[in-house]
Amino acid sequence: MASPSEFKPTIVGFLCNWCCYGGADLAGVSRFQYPPYLRVIRLMCSGRVDLEFILRAFAKKADAVFIGGCHLGDCHYNPEGNYDALGNSFVAKRILENIGINPDRLRLEWVSAGEGIRFSEIMIEFGAKIKALGPFGSSEGRDTDDLVAGLDAATQLVPYFKLVERERFRVTKRTEAGYKEFFARPDYEPLFKELVLDKLTMSRIMGALRSGVLTTETISQKLGVNGLEVARHLHLLSQQGIVRMDADQVQVAVAA
Ligand code: FES
Repeated sequence: MASPSEFKPTIVGFLCNWCCYGGADLAGVSRFQYPPYLRVIRLMCSGRVDLEFILRAFAKKADAVFIGGCHLGDCHYNPEGNYDALGNSFVAKRILENIGINPDRLRLEWVSAGEGIRFSEIMIEFGAKIKALGPFGSSEGRDTDDLVAGLDAATQLVPYFKLVERERFRVTKRTEAGYKEFFARPDYEPLFKELVLDKLTMSRIMGALRSGVLTTETISQKLGVNGLEVARHLHLLSQQGIVRMDADQVQVAVAA
């Protein structure tokens, strides 16, 4: 493994064509220096960055993901796509956290086409932060295969997450403060846990059990989820006849 000083992070950057990409271009033309860690994917709007893109980038073991859009109020599309990017990044960070990935590996910023220097400053700062965190999975202290399995489970649930987001987590106040307020509401956390995180944990448990018979403790270690939480989900899954539990041995129930 590369020593911390040799480590060169791979940062997948989704940049909006109209603003942040222009800012990156200006930084280059103006010869503002920043570390060459970014792999740029140009999109028409930051709102086009699907949750699945973020999960897939990490599943390919990117060390970080950067999303750059126009400043709020300056998006070129209506309704403003950068508010969708803002909502998505809140949700994506929580999902990454559930899987065991440091949410600081995902960053969203607004950069205009005239802010070349701001772009390079963000890249210097973000690059240094990811360099300090180390390669994907290292600061997390987790087996990268287990993290990728979690990302795959989450990717399969993306259509469901989008439905939940649209029906239950639609932010009506399209301001940055409105979004912060919405995601800090006391009823948001339990609802998000029930509708998103619990489903994800169950899916991850089922993914782990596909490798064979496991104990509750092994599942807990593989998933980085505490044993009581795993036991709670296993109980529900066994009530539904999806898993079979014999003493502490758990396996996928075979359909009769
Ligand atoms: Fe740039 Fe929408 S066009 S964020």
